[in-house]
Amino acid sequence: MDKISVIINGKKCLADKGEFLLDIAERNGIVIPHLCHHEALRGQAACRLCIAEVRENGRKRIVTSCIFPVMRDLEAETDTEEIREMRKTLLSLLSAEVPESQTIASLAEEYGKGDVSRFSKDFGNECILCGLCVEACSELGCNAIATVNRGITKKISTPYDEPSAACIGCGSCAYVCPTGCIRIDERNGIRTIWNKEFELIRCDRCGRYYITKEENEYLRQRNGGVQGELQCICKNCRQAETAKKIMETSLEF
Ligand code: SF4
Ligand code: SF4
Ligand code: FES
Repeated sequence: MDKISVIINGKKCLADKGEFLLDIAERNGIVIPHLCHHEALRGQAACRLCIAEVRENGRKRIVTSCIFPVMRDLEAETDTEEIREMRKTLLSLLSAEVPESQTIASLAEEYGKGDVSRFSKDFGNECILCGLCVEACSELGCNAIATVNRGITKKISTPYDEPSAACIGCGSCAYVCPTGCIRIDERNGIRTIWNKEFELIRCDRCGRYYITKEENEYLRQRNGGVQGELQCICKNCRQAETAKKIMETSLEF
């Protein structure tokens, strides 16, 4: 496939046609701040922190880099004074929304805080409504959580805040959450997430709890109703098993 040439902050980067600007930047070690982007998921375009200035045919415009596909050669700047000023405003608004969030606080510190006291609210959690958790759950096919309510009571939750039958307790939503505000509690072989308790299964090798019964069943179903060979062991033991197999194979040669 023909490569496209993208110059980001003066650095020449090669990209595939249609690749998103944020992904190209990341691949080339150029940091663009972002909150609602995860490489495994569709861009959410919710936080707008990933904005960049793009210049094509002598015209300049501001784009949202996580959802901006690069189709032809172009130049981009990700840290101009104008962009920093826009990020400062966005972060000030987010800080007012979620004053408890350390992630937002440290980003706001970097860009400087504007006065947005009129927007302040005492929301009591650190969710910035970026939608990544909902997207992750939807990708799994579970759709256990969604955005509910409107205005300042808008939040992510299960239907009626009740334990959801669709939730398998896998924790993917918490894993992708940029502010770490989805609580997972694990004690005595029980994982609690989204107001639901899940019994955990122990790893066949090391004996550590590692997966909920529901997630284990979900994986079995995805595997055509068959328990996968490595499904009964945790990620650490699986990696060790794979490494052992590689060693054994290379010794045979
Ligand atoms: S823990 Fe529940 S809500 Fe979160 S991704 Fe897994 S199934 Fe969805
Ligand atoms: S809980 Fe986390 S991932 Fe979900 S919308 Fe809020 S900040 Fe984003
Ligand atoms: S990362 Fe692009 S809008 Fe949030």
